[in-house]
Amino acid sequence: MDLYEYQARDVFEKYGVPVLAGIVADTPEEVKAAAEKIGGVVVVKAQVKTGGRGKAGGVKVAKTPDEAYEAAKAILGLDIKGHVVKRVMVAQGARIAEEFYFSVLLDRANRSYLSLCSVEGGMEIEQLAVEKPEALARVEVNPLTGIDKEKAVEIARAANFPEDLVEKVADVFVKLYDVYKGEDATLVEVNPLVRTEDGDIIALDGKVTLDDNASEIRHPEHEALEDKEAADPLEAKAKQSGLNYVKLDGEVGIIGNGAGLVMSTLDVVAYAGENHNGVKPANFLDIGGGASAEVMAAGLDVILGDPQVKSVFVNVFGGITACDAVANGIKGALETLGSTASKPLVVRLDGNRVDEGRAILAEYAHPLVTLAATMDEGADKAAELANA
Ligand SMILES: Nc1ncnc2c1ncn2[C@@H]1O[C@H](COP(=O)(O)OP(=O)(O)OP(=O)(O)O)[C@@H](O)[C@H]1O
Ligand SMILES: [Mg+2]
Repeated sequence: MDLYEYQARDVFEKYGVPVLAGIVADTPEEVKAAAEKIGGVVVVKAQVKTGGRGKAGGVKVAKTPDEAYEAAKAILGLDIKGHVVKRVMVAQGARIAEEFYFSVLLDRANRSYLSLCSVEGGMEIEQLAVEKPEALARVEVNPLTGIDKEKAVEIARAANFPEDLVEKVADVFVKLYDVYKGEDATLVEVNPLVRTEDGDIIALDGKVTLDDNASEIRHPEHEALEDKEAADPLEAKAKQSGLNYVKLDGEVGIIGNGAGLVMSTLDVVAYAGENHNGVKPANFLDIGGGASAEVMAAGLDVILGDPQVKSVFVNVFGGITACDAVANGIKGALETLGSTASKPLVVRLDGNRVDEGRAILAEYAHPLVTLAATMDEGADKAAELANA
């Protein structure tokens, strides 16, 4: 889960990372009140989970509360790369002397952590990495020892910080690593980390990605950080039923058991779709090992709730759960859903007790269900029906 900047700011503050005052607001009136409360120059900042907010007009300096009000009017409702701004943060203005870059992240390929750091902050780091790779220090961080003071000093020197700043920024790096470790994050990024005219080092912007695998048991408090409104409603519904569902853009709904089978089903359907006006898979949905009527009904219910879906391909390989149980699951699901199930269903069953499974569906003879003998045939039929 990615955090909003204001959430990252709050987490930073908790760990002693130097930040400036920040108040979130949803209306220009609230922004004006927040600017009055903070006093002096403020910066009104769009809270969206995407980069390049400044360039898109989502970060504006305001010298007075009235200017802050106007800035909020311009920013609220703005579309930044498909993210509509519903909330802003009013941040205390900093008098910036210099902008730096610091991040620590999970380096999966290397099975370790990696710190990226540069004295040339502010601009997008992807751009810096391409245009001036020598200005971006890459320092491997051993997960067992992390970033202690010594490591932080090594990072600061690798990034060419002037010697009189090394100690000071290193202290902040250690605290940012405390955030990374303490919150089970996979990314903590500060761009810009600034030196103010008064000589203070302050994190002016923060991006934090939390490891979802850690949320349930290690960090139950992370659930409160989730933006439930912004989540895709179908994905939220699937999550509630404990289903592994990812919404995609196509027209053919997919249900399978086992992530590998579902992934290859997506490929086969996309390939078959080329012969049917380019229809594509509408989702990834893995119902896992037990394909009971309940799970099947929950899965179908989610998929049929997607208005873009025109047909559904159920591709199940009977293993521990045999095909007859799956067939009964499909039958039960269609009975549970009744008239909600209104789109054609192509079913391919194979594996343990396949003959019994097919016989159950053949006898059931539901008008919406077509049986397919193979995965290719099923994909082709589902694509054809989606294009009909
Ligand atoms: N509190 C602040 N006081 C003064 N200047 C600020 C403040 N916050 C941001 N700025 C200025 O605005 C610039 C852009 O801000 P910020 O880094 O938060 O957004 P961004 O980089 O455009 O967005 P993103 O990080 O999403 O790509 C900063 O580089 C800094 O110069
Ligand atoms: Mg930034």
